[in-house]
Amino acid sequence: MQDLSFFSRRDFLKDAGLLSLAGAAFWAGGCESCQQQIQNRPTRKNIQTLWNANPSDPVITTYKNAVAAMKALPSSDPRSWEAQAQVHFNKCIHRNWLWLPWHRVYLLYLERICRKLTGDQTFALPYWNWNTHPAIPDPFWDTSSPLFDSNRAVTQTSQASASIIGTTVLQGILSETNFNLFASGPPPTSDLHQGPDATSGLEATPHNGIHGFVGGDMGTFLSPRDAVFYMHHNMCDCMWAHWNNDLNNANTNDPAWVNFSITDFVDENGSPVTVEAGITVLYPLLTYQFEPCSIGMQGGQKKLTGKQLEAFLRAGTPSKLEFGPRWEVRHAITAEVGKVSTSALSLDTAAIASALQGGPHTRVVLTVGDVQMPPKRDFYVRVFLNKPDVTAETSIDDPHFAGSFAFFFDESAMKGGAMPAGSSALPLTGFLVDVKPTLQKLNQAGSLPSQLHVSLVPVPYERREPVSGVVKLGRIELAVANF
Ligand code: C2O
Repeated sequence: MQDLSFFSRRDFLKDAGLLSLAGAAFWAGGCESCQQQIQNRPTRKNIQTLWNANPSDPVITTYKNAVAAMKALPSSDPRSWEAQAQVHFNKCIHRNWLWLPWHRVYLLYLERICRKLTGDQTFALPYWNWNTHPAIPDPFWDTSSPLFDSNRAVTQTSQASASIIGTTVLQGILSETNFNLFASGPPPTSDLHQGPDATSGLEATPHNGIHGFVGGDMGTFLSPRDAVFYMHHNMCDCMWAHWNNDLNNANTNDPAWVNFSITDFVDENGSPVTVEAGITVLYPLLTYQFEPCSIGMQGGQKKLTGKQLEAFLRAGTPSKLEFGPRWEVRHAITAEVGKVSTSALSLDTAAIASALQGGPHTRVVLTVGDVQMPPKRDFYVRVFLNKPDVTAETSIDDPHFAGSFAFFFDESAMKGGAMPAGSSALPLTGFLVDVKPTLQKLNQAGSLPSQLHVSLVPVPYERREPVSGVVKLGRIELAVANF
């Protein structure tokens, strides 16, 4: 049995306080009962697995009924389906490290609204495991169901590419040791809705990639109109929890992250809530748990549990990347779907070689910077290093493959507050790719060349319609970074 005695009375009261009504109810019973409450916290499960066993599993039925009940509420009710989507449209945070806690809070209160509106107090929000099931799960395709969305760009059999949700790619993201490279970096200005050069790992690849793959509502900031949105984010949440709790990686301890107040949501009664980002790291220990969604890394990894794990997560760790030697090209670069764009960087191979010898706190980071947000985002970009003959067909199992990134943005929300008033141009964005593992592989296969060829390969999503697109950027940089 898991050791639960580490949750002190005071801490639990504080956390239970966030949970409002139910928290107060079990708190009244004393800490014996809070430990039980934690032990029996609801388990979030894989919705496709539930469906395969029984299409009328209570979790699926409750989610359907909850969505129907939310759709039946007037949009003036902040718990209504449309009001919940509008919160995202007007307030959502992306392209920086606050996206993770912001969406975690979103899901927690959505789950509580589902319980309240259906009376099913045991309900736990399920997730879409796109790694094991790369197509939109079956419960979302019944045209008479409240879970159906008619404007998706894919069909029931379309599968998202392994470049976005495949095991190799997700394992690479889960092996990341730095929070900023796992989760995206800090917002560069006081504007939380901006994020030049900060998008990475979990956000840049499976998160953005699944939004783009599904398309339709999911390709916009009104994505929560599609009920599969919450399943997608729950999988991102599960991967974050796995990275923390099973693989024992720490989140940032930067006070700008820990103390950030999330104030955009309401509880099951429609009352506004305030949650600090730092406390959300304890949710998967205290308030819910996941059926393992881990990607080829189940079991065996866990070193910290109970009291040590809680202390470790509360403490966090410095995550700021201190950039050392860097090599860059700075000129207009255009990459077009169906074409490959390659840039050459002249390297100091000795400096790179010594970074490759460095421990887990030394990374080699590729910045794809000053990227003009593309007006059409129905493609994603694969990155290859030193692969002169690369094409869109080159396998991602090729050792020269370094990662992928995708775009998620909505210019119509620019008027609604997600962008500074008055700005009309599409913003600049940028991506960080930790290429240390790829360079290590290439280094083992031979010597490091003094020129690094970085190839960007835009690849269309699997769609009903043919796609085209172009991405323009101004800078590619390779740097050694320590944290
Ligand atoms: Cu705020 Cu995946 O969206």
